[in-house]
Amino acid sequence: MSKLIYYVAASMDGYIATQQGQLDWLENFPLGEEATAYDDFYQGIGAVIIGAETYNWIMENTPDDWPYQNIPAFIMTHRTLPILAGLNITLTGDDAKSLAEKAKCAAGGKDVWLVGGGKTAASFADAGELQQIMLTTIPVFLGTGIPVLPANSRLHVTPKTHRLLPSGAMESVLDVNLT
Ligand SMILES: NC(=O)c1ccc[n+]([C@@H]2O[C@H](COP(=O)([O-])OP(=O)(O)OC[C@H]3O[C@@H](n4cnc5c(N)ncnc54)[C@H](OP(=O)(O)O)[C@@H]3O)[C@@H](O)[C@H]2O)c1
Repeated sequence: MSKLIYYVAASMDGYIATQQGQLDWLENFPLGEEATAYDDFYQGIGAVIIGAETYNWIMENTPDDWPYQNIPAFIMTHRTLPILAGLNITLTGDDAKSLAEKAKCAAGGKDVWLVGGGKTAASFADAGELQQIMLTTIPVFLGTGIPVLPANSRLHVTPKTHRLLPSGAMESVLDVNLT
């Protein structure tokens, strides 16, 4: 059964970006080859869901290198954002519940990667539509920033695996408990 997976990297104090949306602390961190290979994870993914702020970050920072070339991408937004020609991108104002259904259908039996950011992931957690979190914790405290999962209520998880990587990062796979 297809799952929604929030695959994300955060600081030790739970931030996915600085307050200004910067990712230098992550991009410059030497994760090394022990981390779960992005390619392996990506093989199991049939669609992605991305929040408007994360989409804007990608468009501003790597406009010529859309990372999800061969699969449908759903961008959650209330705005009309620019889309580069030829990309399989749908802008949607659907709520989390309907979009979860739509994305699972589009994924054709594979999982759906909830790319983030935190606000978007939280809307799926609040709707009971988030099944798993793959969290890479980078050994740095940012002090302030954009929270990893600012859900409206507590979210209990069952850790499936925790791995301390040689780089000092911690990789955790967490199943979200259904209430
Ligand atoms: N460290 C990592 O692995 C990682 C991963 C992903 C992202 N990031 C970073 O996280 C930052 C952005 O995170 P964020 O939490 O601030 O923002 P975000 O989740 O990317 O985007 C939030 C926006 O998405 C739209 N949205 C979210 N839920 C919606 C819903 N249910 N219906 C309609 N629209 C919805 C809204 O935009 P509208 O204003 O259009 O309504 C909302 O303001 C960026 O800097 C990005 O680079 C880091």
